[in-house]
Amino acid sequence: STVTCGIDIGGTKIAGAVVDAGGIVVAESRVTSPATDPDAIGAAVAGLVTELSTAMPQGHPVSAVGVGAAGYIDADRSTVLFAPNIAWRDEPLGADLARRTGLPVVIENDANAAAWGEFRYGAGGDVDDQLMVTVGTGVGGGVIIDGRLLRGAFGVAAEIGHLCIVPEGRLCGCGNRGCLEQYGSGSALVREAREAAAGSSLLARELVDRAGGDPAAITGPLITQAAQEGDRFAVEQLERIGHWLGHGIASLVAVLDPAVIVIGGGVSEAGDLLLDPIRETFEHELTGRGYRPQAEIRRAQLGNRAGVIGAADLARV
Ligand code: BGC
Ligand code: NA
Ligand code: ZN
Repeated sequence: STVTCGIDIGGTKIAGAVVDAGGIVVAESRVTSPATDPDAIGAAVAGLVTELSTAMPQGHPVSAVGVGAAGYIDADRSTVLFAPNIAWRDEPLGADLARRTGLPVVIENDANAAAWGEFRYGAGGDVDDQLMVTVGTGVGGGVIIDGRLLRGAFGVAAEIGHLCIVPEGRLCGCGNRGCLEQYGSGSALVREAREAAAGSSLLARELVDRAGGDPAAITGPLITQAAQEGDRFAVEQLERIGHWLGHGIASLVAVLDPAVIVIGGGVSEAGDLLLDPIRETFEHELTGRGYRPQAEIRRAQLGNRAGVIGAADLARV
């Protein structure tokens, strides 16, 4: 059977996996993302592909590479038009990677790839209409309607991280103000926790201790771990971003009417500590609530692998 390589390029890390036709990961690896240097990203991805394909047993060569990239991808699934958190501007990523690897390459938006992965092999396997929300460095979106990935006229549909939820709010990497990503992402989670801690909020004391006494050393995984162990301040940090996400999702559901909403990305490792606040605000704000079937909010089943698994599958066809 043939295997393909799936790559997930985010603002923080690049993950790669060799995936079979059943969506099973047979080899995987990851490196830190050199997000400010497009050439270094290309080299890092090519390195991952080589590492992963040579790690494969003989007779199972990688036939194609699918890449989920955290940016706006053109309709040809080849060029990154723009990225808010990575230094890509009209970047010919597909051609570059095809040249470096000698393989056919398909580029897709990272959250679209994750949505596809969850739809094919994960939390959306039982429905035809699914909204995926990825919560990491940015906030990503992927929409499956009637079993098909929504790409829009120009390839850049479902950029839900850039819904304006606070008019004249925080400045975003996309150049606008008040984007959901500035309030509901992992970056927002960490930024506000650090701010509160640096402002010597006594409530943050336990979290600062965990960070070795340095507020700037607070990370997303540290907040999640503290919350899981019952630290009230950490729980509240996750609640805050959850409420913003629930707010955005209520508006998106008014438009899309999905059967399920899948929450993925690094911060979804927090599980119900993130999902319950999302559900609470969503249920409180959805238009027509109480008089319409309730879409279910589920955690990504493929976890952080949704992107690589989805990208690998998209490279298959
Ligand atoms: C980007 C999206 C991406 C998301 C998650 C956003 O800032 O605009 O393209 O899907 O982050 O990585
Ligand atoms: Na998307
Ligand atoms: Zn934005």
